[in-house]
Amino acid sequence: MLAWTFATVHRVQIAVITRFLFLPDNPIKPIDYRKVNGLNTALIDPFALPNAQGSLTLINNFIFSCARTGFLKGLAKGITGLAALGRSNISIPVQINKVFPSTPNCFAICLSRSISQPGVALFGSRGPYNFLPGIDLSKSLVYTPLLLNPLGKDSEPDKPILSSEYHIGLTSIKVNGKMVALNNSLLAINGEKGSGGTKISTVVPYTKLESSIYKAFILAFLKEAASSAFNLTTTKPVKPFAVCYPASAVKNTQVGPAVPIIDLVLDRQDVVWKIFGSNSMVRITKKSVDLWCLGFLDAGVNQMVSSWVGAPSIVIGGYQLEDNMLQFDLQSKKLGFSSSILSKGTDCAKFKFPTKIV
Ligand SMILES: *[C@@H]1O[C@H](CO)[C@@H](O)[C@H](O)[C@H]1NC(C)=O
Ligand SMILES: *[C@@H]1O[C@H](CO)[C@@H](O)[C@H](O)[C@H]1NC(C)=O
Ligand SMILES: *[C@@H]1O[C@H](CO)[C@@H](O)[C@H](O)[C@H]1NC(C)=O
Repeated sequence: MLAWTFATVHRVQIAVITRFLFLPDNPIKPIDYRKVNGLNTALIDPFALPNAQGSLTLINNFIFSCARTGFLKGLAKGITGLAALGRSNISIPVQINKVFPSTPNCFAICLSRSISQPGVALFGSRGPYNFLPGIDLSKSLVYTPLLLNPLGKDSEPDKPILSSEYHIGLTSIKVNGKMVALNNSLLAINGEKGSGGTKISTVVPYTKLESSIYKAFILAFLKEAASSAFNLTTTKPVKPFAVCYPASAVKNTQVGPAVPIIDLVLDRQDVVWKIFGSNSMVRITKKSVDLWCLGFLDAGVNQMVSSWVGAPSIVIGGYQLEDNMLQFDLQSKKLGFSSSILSKGTDCAKFKFPTKIV
C-alpha cells in the first residue's frame, strides 16, 4: 500500500486526463493552447510515496507535467496542482499499477474538510485502512458496481471513446426515508448520447442534479425539513444555494447539522449511500448572516460535455465526498463507500501512518 496525503478536496482536484495526454490541462477552465508560450509537455522522474512499512517506495519513470501557476485559474484558492485518478493511461493509479502489477488494482481516497489537516489517497491496497482511534475503514465499506459510459467526452460521432470517469448506478433518492419521484430514464446512461446516469467528480464542488431531478429533490427536502421532526423554516438564501436555514434553528449532531437524511439508493434497495448534514449542508457565515444551506445545485436541462456528448444527470461533487472513504476497485469494477466516517468517530485527516517515515 502506498499512501499520499491530500491537502483537502478544495486544494487538490481530481482530473481525468484523456486526449491531451502529454499536456497539462485544467478541468474547470480549459487551457487555450494557442495562447500559451513555453508549454512544458511530459516530464519523467522518480516519484516517492510512503508505503505500509513506513519507508518510501520509489516509482521510477513517473510521468507528470509542470505548468505555470496561471494554469490554476478557476480552481479553489490554495490549489497547487491536479492529481489524475481516472482510467486514462497515465493517471496515478494506472501508472502505479503498471509498476506494481502484483498489488491489487485498487485505490482509495478520503478527502478532508480541513484546509490545514490533509486527507489521504491510498494506492495498491484493499485494506486495512487504519484511522485513529484504531478504526479499519476497509471493514465499513458497502459496494456497488462501477459502470462504464461508452461515450466519453472526447468521443466523436464516428469514434466512440470510453469515458475515463467513474459512474455508479443510482436508482432512486430518498429524503428522510421517503422516495423522491424521478424520471427513471434520466438515471440510466444513454449509450447513444453519452448522457444520463450518475458520475463521481471532485471537479464540481457541490453535487449537480438535472433540473427535473433537482426540483423534485428540493421540494421533498423542504417538506421534510418543515415537518415536526425538524421544524425548519427557510430564510433568504445566499447564492449559489437556493435553500437556507438560520444556523441558530438547526441542532448539531455528530454527523453535522440535524436535517433530513438523504439516501442515494444504488444497485439494490439495501445498497445506500447516506448523506448526513455534514455533507448536505454548507455553513455560510458572513456579515450579518449565519446559515446552513443545502449544498446541491441545479445543472439545467440537456447539458452537454462536448458538441456530441451529453452530460450525466447527476454529478456527485467534492463537498458530498468529504469525510467519506471511497475505494475504487478497478480490478473488480466496484466502488466501496463508507458514508460519513464522522459517525464512526474519525475523519479523513486521521489516517494512521504505519510507523514513522524515515
Ligand atoms: C492506452 O493504452 C492502450 C494500450 O497501450 C492503447 O491501446 C490506447 O490507445 C491508449 N489510450 C489512450 C487514450 O492513449
Ligand atoms: C424523462 O427523461 C427523458 C430523457 O430526457 C425524456 O425524453 C422524457 O420526456 C422524460 N419523461 C418525463 C415524463 O418527463
Ligand atoms: C416550530 O418553530 C416555530 C418557530 O420557528 C415555533 O414557534 C414552534 O413552536 C415550533 N414548533 C415545534 C413543534 O417545535
